[in-house]
Amino acid sequence: MTEEMTRYYARRAREYERVYTLPAWQMGIAEVRRRVLAAFAGRRVFEVACGTGYWTELIAGVATSIHATDVNDETLTLARGRPYPLGNATFAVHDAYMPASASPTWNAGFAGLWLSHVDATRMEQFVDAFHSHLVPGAIAIAFDERDDPTRTVRGMRMDDATGNRYEARRLENGEHYEIVKNFIDEPRLRRALARHARNLQYDDLGRFWIATWEAT
Ligand SMILES: C[S@@+](CC[C@H](N)C(=O)[O-])C[C@H]1O[C@@H](n2cnc3c(N)ncnc32)[C@H](O)[C@@H]1O
Repeated sequence: MTEEMTRYYARRAREYERVYTLPAWQMGIAEVRRRVLAAFAGRRVFEVACGTGYWTELIAGVATSIHATDVNDETLTLARGRPYPLGNATFAVHDAYMPASASPTWNAGFAGLWLSHVDATRMEQFVDAFHSHLVPGAIAIAFDERDDPTRTVRGMRMDDATGNRYEARRLENGEHYEIVKNFIDEPRLRRALARHARNLQYDDLGRFWIATWEAT
């Protein structure tokens, strides 16, 4: 099922950015942008599951550097193709569940619209892997969708055995997928980050939640 979600985003790469034009998203995304720009100015940022690079481009405008990763070459190609006038963005194919292969170097970490897709049975593995890229004291930000009644959902089911929630998705070419889409509320995030975070702040932005913490 994790693989189905990964394949879905590879196939969806060119359609993906439309989410950022949704009227219901505008206010929340503007607030996320504001916070991300303020937090990451002058930082060396590690980005997980960067997708088409919407946030990579934005962060590159204020950060010292950004290293953007994604498991899909299809989305990374689009992320690489954006303008980075400061020449401070690097990219790599990397599975978010895999730890860093060298000592941590980044003093900031970012996970945009990713935690909802983390398999509930692998959350600890992801959280450990993410923090293996960050030096102690690094600033981390994650944001994602909240379970908002205005969201349009075609089909949904819960899987009690894994604790995952699944949503049906359809691409423009008619292909159907069922992907993991878990809503991460504050207690759930606090539990997941307990061994790695200090000063965790979790805010409800309406359509989105956003969390900031310091890596330990
Ligand atoms: C909802 S998109 C988020 C993209 C981007 N962060 C954003 O906010 O616009 C989820 C991304 O996760 C990537 N992905 C899926 N499985 C992954 C994995 N195991 N490791 C890293 N990235 C993965 C997909 O390729 C896709 O680009």
